[in-house]
Amino acid sequence: MTQNAQVVQMTAEPDEEYVTNRLPLRDRMRAQMNTDGLSQAAAAREIGISPSALNQWLQGKYAGNNDEVEARIENWLTARQRREAASSAMPEPPEFFRSPSAEKVVNALSYAQMAGDIVCIYGNPGVGKTKSFRHYRDTNPSVWIATMSPDSAGLVPALEEVAEAIGLRDAGGGARRIARAIRRKIEGTRGLLIIDEAQHLSTAALEELRIAIHDATGIGLVFAGNPEVYSRLTGGNRSMRFAQIFSRIGMRLFIPRPTVGDVKSLAAAWGVKGSPEIELLKEVAAEPGALRGASKVLALAAMASGGDITLAALRQARANLGGQE
Ligand SMILES: Nc1ncnc2c1ncn2[C@@H]1O[C@H](COP(=O)(O)OP(=O)(O)OP(=O)(O)O)[C@@H](O)[C@H]1O
Ligand SMILES: [Mg+2]
Repeated sequence: MTQNAQVVQMTAEPDEEYVTNRLPLRDRMRAQMNTDGLSQAAAAREIGISPSALNQWLQGKYAGNNDEVEARIENWLTARQRREAASSAMPEPPEFFRSPSAEKVVNALSYAQMAGDIVCIYGNPGVGKTKSFRHYRDTNPSVWIATMSPDSAGLVPALEEVAEAIGLRDAGGGARRIARAIRRKIEGTRGLLIIDEAQHLSTAALEELRIAIHDATGIGLVFAGNPEVYSRLTGGNRSMRFAQIFSRIGMRLFIPRPTVGDVKSLAAAWGVKGSPEIELLKEVAAEPGALRGASKVLALAAMASGGDITLAALRQARANLGGQE
């Protein structure tokens, strides 16, 4: 009886030698999770094993098929390291650069916040609207960005996006309840709410947002997105309903395309100074995608140049990305 109990206990304990043999993989796994700041649960999800299996394996106590778990972990570590190597070769794009258009956006945001007014900022894709909003948010108090999507066209989903943007957890219930919770949080903040990609909102939702959020609290409100935003607000001047919201817009800013100054700021941010290089970037920025396309060309060229960005690398990058040679 006593002997049996001992045997059972011994097999339940991890095998000394087994643990020692596997130490390197465990160490590597622990180190990887540490450097990446990854929890065991998150790592397990990526590896494709249960969190308890990973936890037990890390302690050398896993009773299941260790070989299989280890094969998966090896795979995951290799893939992760490969990805890290690739991303370290990829130069960091500039987080934000000041450009004439960015300056205009920041001024419009600043006006909306200070005056508690409604502003409409619209422009073609890739001119740097969202980047400027984020910069403004990160450098000013009480600024929130709620990004709309095709499935937030109605008032309730739009309000839910706003609630999440201002940090309200699980604001549920009908439109009135969510709107009330939002007002309670933003009232008296002298804040600014930016509704990005607002072209996805129905005109009714735009109107309701204005009434529920701006009229009731006096905080600044920005409707931003592609040129469709503006036509939504005017409704082609056909209906009184549209006209009502339109008449309340205090300022509008249209950025159709990047200016030469914007392209020069982008180039400078990447350390590109030569005029043939800047000419090429101007051409890329004139295509649909604007500064987004030019940024991709710069990133790829920087990767290929491995130092200063050359004209040849820019040309090659442009060709590789599907533009002109
Ligand atoms: N001021 C800036 N600072 C840093 N990067 C910028 C700036 N302006 C543009 N970019 C680059 O251009 C890309 C597009 O910018 P952004 O997303 O702000 O454009 P957008 O006008 O919001 O476009 P969309 O209408 O498609 O949302 C960015 O991802 C970035 O690479
Ligand atoms: Mg954007």
